[in-house]
Amino acid sequence: MLQRILVTAAVLLRLATGLDNGLALTPPMGWLTWQRFRCNTDCLNRPDTCISERLIKTMADLMVKEGYKDAGYEYIMIDDCWLAKNRTKLGKLQPDPDRFPSGIRALADYVHNLGLKFGIYEDFGTHTCAGYPGSEFYLQLDAMTFAEWEVDYVKFDGCYSDRRDFDAGYEAFGFFLNKTGRPMVYSCEWPFYQSVSGIKPNYTAIQQTCNLWRNHMDIQDTWDSVQSVIKYYGTDDGNFSSYAKPGAWNDPDMLTIGNFGLSYEESKVQMAMWAIWASPLIMSTDLRSISPEAKFLLQNKHLIAINQDPLGIQGKRIAFIKGTAIEVWSKPLSNPSGSFALAFVQLPNPGDPTLFSVRTGDVGLVSPNGYTISDGFTGEEEVTTKSPDDVLKLLVNPNGVILFVATPVQP
Ligand SMILES: *[C@@H]1O[C@H](CO)[C@@H](O)[C@H](O)[C@H]1NC(C)=O
Ligand SMILES: *[C@@H]1O[C@H](CO)[C@@H](O)[C@H](O)[C@H]1NC(C)=O
Ligand SMILES: *[C@@H]1O[C@H](CO)[C@@H](O)[C@H](O)[C@H]1NC(C)=O
Ligand SMILES: *[C@@H]1O[C@H](CO)[C@@H](O)[C@H](O)[C@H]1NC(C)=O
Repeated sequence: MLQRILVTAAVLLRLATGLDNGLALTPPMGWLTWQRFRCNTDCLNRPDTCISERLIKTMADLMVKEGYKDAGYEYIMIDDCWLAKNRTKLGKLQPDPDRFPSGIRALADYVHNLGLKFGIYEDFGTHTCAGYPGSEFYLQLDAMTFAEWEVDYVKFDGCYSDRRDFDAGYEAFGFFLNKTGRPMVYSCEWPFYQSVSGIKPNYTAIQQTCNLWRNHMDIQDTWDSVQSVIKYYGTDDGNFSSYAKPGAWNDPDMLTIGNFGLSYEESKVQMAMWAIWASPLIMSTDLRSISPEAKFLLQNKHLIAINQDPLGIQGKRIAFIKGTAIEVWSKPLSNPSGSFALAFVQLPNPGDPTLFSVRTGDVGLVSPNGYTISDGFTGEEEVTTKSPDDVLKLLVNPNGVILFVATPVQP
């Protein structure tokens, strides 16, 4: 009951404001433990891959040394399983003492000294998804603790909670984050849990409260999982794509590129779609053993430029190619005006590359003066169209993508 009253008071104060923390004006880019390292707490038998300060420091070093920081990746984040099983006697969160012997503040300092930013995970419910202490009944104290530790980004999960409390609860935690005075990116799981519980997410409220929010299931390291996200984003239930804007992003979850489950073509599809959607680019892979191909995709400056375009418009599915399983996606870009990214994605796998023809005017190439079209992965100029009645003949690989950037020809 007390919690409810506190939450209500916080929400009343919040409604007058809305989220204005000046952060995530382009989709956040970083690295997060979960997809690749899960809840491995067994540092005795698997010291190199357990969730520990050692893992975070190692990955942070590699983000700098291997060029990820220069490519734009900025946040390094721990997901679940960093906590001790109990709070301190005074109710404060504390990390597992064996795996984080120096404490979280020292780890944040280490990350900051590399010129990176530091992110952490908690949960709105009584427990985190893996069963560690949750923030319910401690929202204000936990926000203050994160600020004291100089955290820059909080991922806030929704296990072990009543989803009907989310509208008030996520706003309350956002309110307390704001009151700390320390700008922290606020990543919410709010609409995802509500959708799976049959509650229609209020995207207006979510967009005013969170910098990013998860809509769909946790990503898995499989092509099926990536396809399921593409379908969900194509259906665009509740028109959620229209709520993305600078400071507020739909989050299809981590990039699985660099792990075990995706072929190179499938990895290209993932990177292209995440770029088209203006999605947060959150890697979760072992930077010690990543292949050169995966690294090339994750650091691809052309794809990153599409993703980070300052307009911050989430691309949409605009057409299907008749008689094929090919979807067409498009995302407006700022510079030069009228330019856009255009993707042809083949789902599912027909076993053989598919040759198809498309009238340019049917996929948004409507300028009467035509367009210069360059390859979205290499930047190389490919073709020039002359009018909306031109026909492009294209060959797309199974589970593959053709990505273009189209720039209108000036008259
Ligand atoms: C808190 O919210 C106010 C009002 O929206 C905003 O101006 C301020 O920058 C926010 N501060 C932080 C630390 O998020
Ligand atoms: C955590 O707290 C509970 C309840 O106070 C107690 O029963 C348990 O032994 C504690 N666990 C640890 C690991 O200290
Ligand atoms: C959704 O949230 C907005 C902003 O908080 C609020 O004004 C509106 O009434 C809410 N809509 C519904 C259907 O609850
Ligand atoms: C989706 O939102 C956009 C932008 O607010 C609006 O123009 C469009 O009509 C909406 N579409 C549907 C199907 O509601």
